[in-house]
Amino acid sequence: SARKAYRASILHSIADPAEVGIEASYEYFDDGLLIVSDGQVEALGEAESLLAELPAGTEVVEHANGLLMPGFIDTHIHYPQTGMIAAYGEQLLDWLNNYTFPAEREFENPEHAAEVADVFIRELLRNGTTSALVFGTVHKASVDAFFSAAEQRNLRMIGGKVLMDRNAPDYLTDTAESGYQDSRELIERWHGKGRLHYAVTPRFAPTSTDEQLASAGQLLHEYDGLYMHTHLSENRDEVEWVKSLFPQCSGYLDVYDHFNLLSERSVFAHGIHLCDDECQRLAQTGSAIAFCPTSNLFLGSGLFNLPKMEQHGVNVGLGTDVGAGTSFSILQTLNEAYKVMQLQGAKLSPFKSLYLATLGGARALRLDDRIGSLAPGNEADFVLLDYHCTPLMQYRMQQARTLDERLFVLMTLGDDRAVRATFAAGQCVHQRD
Ligand code: GUN
Ligand code: FE
Repeated sequence: SARKAYRASILHSIADPAEVGIEASYEYFDDGLLIVSDGQVEALGEAESLLAELPAGTEVVEHANGLLMPGFIDTHIHYPQTGMIAAYGEQLLDWLNNYTFPAEREFENPEHAAEVADVFIRELLRNGTTSALVFGTVHKASVDAFFSAAEQRNLRMIGGKVLMDRNAPDYLTDTAESGYQDSRELIERWHGKGRLHYAVTPRFAPTSTDEQLASAGQLLHEYDGLYMHTHLSENRDEVEWVKSLFPQCSGYLDVYDHFNLLSERSVFAHGIHLCDDECQRLAQTGSAIAFCPTSNLFLGSGLFNLPKMEQHGVNVGLGTDVGAGTSFSILQTLNEAYKVMQLQGAKLSPFKSLYLATLGGARALRLDDRIGSLAPGNEADFVLLDYHCTPLMQYRMQQARTLDERLFVLMTLGDDRAVRATFAAGQCVHQRD
């Protein structure tokens, strides 16, 4: 496809600030140029020098008063919960029974699934999210609908069918055998097709029998590059319930460990109430945690301890966890992440936030050789963010002189309105009105 260039202030993360310090963690070009061809980044650098070598006739798109950066990566979200976001008044277990399960029941209708999948994907793109690790429902067709919608727009996406064979309504359960067979069918159909990947998705330990968790562990190792996606240690009542359901295991993580569900492609949402041994085991196995601040606050689940994860060397990405999360916006998710850290007497620098939203998410998903930064050769998934998107943002930016200040304001005040356009594999997939 034709070569195209984007001239803007360009920022991307190139390392974890916790490992290399803030200054070495990012690259910034105040007047930068991103050259895209064949859906990939061909070059990135100062506009002045790159423009001189640009082949004659190359279209140059200019983006003023804003920032070009990699697309956001959401490492935990439920597409079937799009229509039940902001459900009032409950903590996790009652929220699941009262709101979530009835909403997920609707996905037995494939037309409903197709409609929600389309709304969901458009909402991700409106918010600048170009890749996500996504829960379906127990219904096989829910995952077909999701992957179809992602494939149409050539997005790098990961998803899977929920496995759930106990402690849920009959209308929403599979069996160890049917869950295994349905997952296999979906893997054969979608895993590795275009930019799509499959995740083996037991909902959480309480809703699967030993037999189902064992079959999930077996399935995970039957194909290359499969992900494992579940919930872990989110809510205190949930943790106690797991202990009573699996008395032979030493703790919540040990249940998954026992069934061979820890791997370099395993992503656990939440991980709020973990002990040191559990953090160490996550690090040892290369597993990742999805930090979901808006959800953890909304359901009153607790405060995620990011510094503790850093100390143990656990990979961490950001998750919106919609519908328990209250926003599709990774910017708004960072706003809440900052406050969660403040409540624990810690700081979240805007460059660590940038890392979590992009390269850190890509690393958690083992996709950092393709997405998460604008390194040449990477897939051209990027966003154009707008410093003038609202009167308040524009006014505030007049006072913000340094990059770190501008970035922090963008992450604190910004949401979907700050996303002027979103690109996937070099194609524009969203343009703000
Ligand atoms: N634990 C098990 N299922 C869910 C879910 O759908 N959302 C959240 N936040 N936690 C869960
Ligand atoms: Fe979740």
